[in-house]
Amino acid sequence: MIKITFKEESPLKHKTDCLVVPCVETEKPAGFVTHFKAPLGRAIAAARASKRFEGKLNQTLWLDGAGTLGAVSLILTGLGKAGDLTEDRLRQAAGTAARLAEKSRCRSVSLLVEKDLLNSKDDRGYHPQAAALAEGAALGLYHFDDYKDREKLQEETRTRSLTLVADPVTGLDGLAAAARRALHIAQAVTTARDLALHPGNRATPSFLAKTAKRLAGKNRLTCRVLGPKEMKQLGMGALLGVSRGSDEPPALIVLEYKGGKAKDSPVALVGKGITFDTGGISLKPPANMDEMKMDMSGGAAVIGALEAAAGLKLPVNVVGLVPAAENMPGGSAIKPGDVLASLSGKTIEVLNTDAEGRLVLADALAYAARFKPRAVIDLATLTGAVIVALGHGAAAVLGTDQALAEGLIASGERTGERLWQLPLWEEHEKALKSNIADLKNIAAPGVGAGTITGAAFLKAFAGEQPWAHIDIAGTAWSGEDKPYTPKGASGFGVRLLLDFLENLPPEEKTPGKKAKKTARKK
Ligand code: BES
Ligand code: ZN
Ligand code: ZN
Repeated sequence: MIKITFKEESPLKHKTDCLVVPCVETEKPAGFVTHFKAPLGRAIAAARASKRFEGKLNQTLWLDGAGTLGAVSLILTGLGKAGDLTEDRLRQAAGTAARLAEKSRCRSVSLLVEKDLLNSKDDRGYHPQAAALAEGAALGLYHFDDYKDREKLQEETRTRSLTLVADPVTGLDGLAAAARRALHIAQAVTTARDLALHPGNRATPSFLAKTAKRLAGKNRLTCRVLGPKEMKQLGMGALLGVSRGSDEPPALIVLEYKGGKAKDSPVALVGKGITFDTGGISLKPPANMDEMKMDMSGGAAVIGALEAAAGLKLPVNVVGLVPAAENMPGGSAIKPGDVLASLSGKTIEVLNTDAEGRLVLADALAYAARFKPRAVIDLATLTGAVIVALGHGAAAVLGTDQALAEGLIASGERTGERLWQLPLWEEHEKALKSNIADLKNIAAPGVGAGTITGAAFLKAFAGEQPWAHIDIAGTAWSGEDKPYTPKGASGFGVRLLLDFLENLPPEEKTPGKKAKKTARKK
């Protein structure tokens, strides 16, 4: 893990391999860079004049310190127009610059925190601008090296430390808290990305369970794992059904974090944990099937969110549930037409074994009700259809409670893990009526709206509490390098869920039917 520290000293004197200076788009150089004397000052002015660097978002300018600064080199990184500035833009600009610094073999990178870049009057206990910069840089510098030759890796120079630098005269508070926060977030996103990137032969249901137990040992979390025996006793026929074609035993991971009062009801987070999705007997086509090792990304995000919640000691109670199984076409595998008896008591006709995520979630959602949660949120790489609807830039949110959905959407805006709501209507539930069981796991061909019918299926198991479903099939994996998300597993959901937990209203105001009614009376 990268080191993240902070320092209050003159940025002109600060010693580092690379000093990153975030710059807004202006006509003339402004802010910190105006303190530079010639030749650096002249080089910056010339870059502005020639439009080589105007401060546009993710534009960069590399400069040599040439002995005039404490830093060996300097990167100006563009934030775009001052009026458009958001925390996400700071994350992007820092990620872009940190990756450039690393490519240029800088071992230490420092990020300049200028007080006036962001209106940070809101008291979050940390400096939001500094936290966003450190978070973006740390996330951008993510690598997954577990399967690479160690000796060859030594030849690559990796950035080892990030430092937030602020001039003491600016009198900044909350720098230490910002560094600490960024570290916990980077750690949790790393956990989620690593889990999704491990191949299916390593990241089995038992491996997920072992990882959750290890994290519980390191943090103030408890972890219990239900195996096939307990599942049979409880009657989790849907989760067991999915795992039947595989030699890997399924696991239901239960992580609990109790940062709130004992009487506070928890938020339940449920994450799809299919460690590899071949489609089962309804086998997937071979092209890109390898990517289906990430079909446990929802579960990985839930594990990461609990790690971060515990690390940051959030004053809330949270239960994380990850139904983990491998979807394989073995000799004992479930077949199209099979009927499974789920924990909820409802029977399910399985018409497509590739719609397995909703089956494992059905039992996990029914199990979640035992914790009497104030809200249930599930994350799942559930449908390819969400990519058709929203592409790779936003996940879909659907559910039974508008206030809960809106709370999540707001968290998405703040974290850059954006959500877009799709409707969930009675007609979608009707499309799942089965001739021989309580419901079938896919709608009839021609109904369309695959993401919605997937959610409609889950709704039948979600119980009475406010519930939201987030389909992350389009966002869990990035096909290209982005400023703070390298190609591959994105860890989508960890920061979203954490932000949601941090902004949870007091329990009496829980978004729910009663609360909504009283609100309307006013
Ligand atoms: N894991 C897939 C969904 C998926 C697709 C995730 C692309 C990531 C990228 C899921 O289990 C699945 O196969 N869904 C089917 C549902 C269908 C059979 C109703 C799909 O989307 O085709
Ligand atoms: Zn599937
Ligand atoms: Zn799947």
